[in-house]
Amino acid sequence: MKVYCVIGDQRVERSLSPIMHNSVFLSRGMDCHYVAFKIGPADLEDAVLGIRALNISGVNVTVPHKETIIPFLDGLSDCARGIGAVNTIVRDGSTLIGHNTDVGGFGDLLDKYRVSPHNSDVVIMGAGGATRAVLGSFIERGYEKVSVINRTYKKGLELTAKLGGLAIPPENAAEALRKATLLINTTSVSEVAEGPSFMEIFSNEARLDKLRLVIDINYGRKTNFWASFADNNSAIFTDGLFMLAAQARRSFRLWTGEEPAIENFLDPIGLVE
Ligand code: ATR
Repeated sequence: MKVYCVIGDQRVERSLSPIMHNSVFLSRGMDCHYVAFKIGPADLEDAVLGIRALNISGVNVTVPHKETIIPFLDGLSDCARGIGAVNTIVRDGSTLIGHNTDVGGFGDLLDKYRVSPHNSDVVIMGAGGATRAVLGSFIERGYEKVSVINRTYKKGLELTAKLGGLAIPPENAAEALRKATLLINTTSVSEVAEGPSFMEIFSNEARLDKLRLVIDINYGRKTNFWASFADNNSAIFTDGLFMLAAQARRSFRLWTGEEPAIENFLDPIGLVE
């Protein structure tokens, strides 16, 4: 049997990746199994040694290890190197190569909603690990108007200096939001109670006339601030489940060479297209 896994901190215990991949393995009669491992930052290097020793066939990497795992790998794909984050490890004999399928997975979500660089004015909230793939995806696709608004302005400046886009100080958010056609939340905040002071950015009563689509890359919240925000501005809302399935499908292809339909990954997590 081949073993695959996802490594992350305590949040990995809520990951839907095992359900998705095991369902696809089962439906295709593949002798493979996918498990989640909770690993703290101090144990990351040992975990990679364990992956090597146990001959794990493929690995997903999630928060907070997507950037810090890089020094422990043998090589990177151009995409992972470009954005400085790894979400997928592919074993090639005894070498471990880091890839990033979040970039393509987010691109699949943009395609689903027929979003194109033409006439798009993008505002990304956040400048953490998850922001890299989203910002990288926009830059790769030739979007020219991409603003990054983060609680810690300095991190926004650093990220946009590396990847592209324009960092906006949170106090100037209103002006960028007024022009936005597309708003993406890449912070870990999806409920007001998770970041009340940051959410004051959105306390302005004025409607955002240009806003068409709001994407929260998180999922699984009982109440979602971004969903209400989209509703209040007559915009469409989508959470991170489709992107999760899309990146999983791309990782599966890297590991196995097989290309199951996206529905095979959506069905196990309750999303029907
Ligand atoms: P990472 O993804 O880099 O591991 P994280 O702690 O999960 O980090 O945070 C991801 C993003 O959510 C960051 O942009 C972070 O903002 P800072 O750079 O200012 O830390 C943002 N974030 C987390 N908690 C937040 C809060 N309460 N209010 C606003 N932004 C928050």
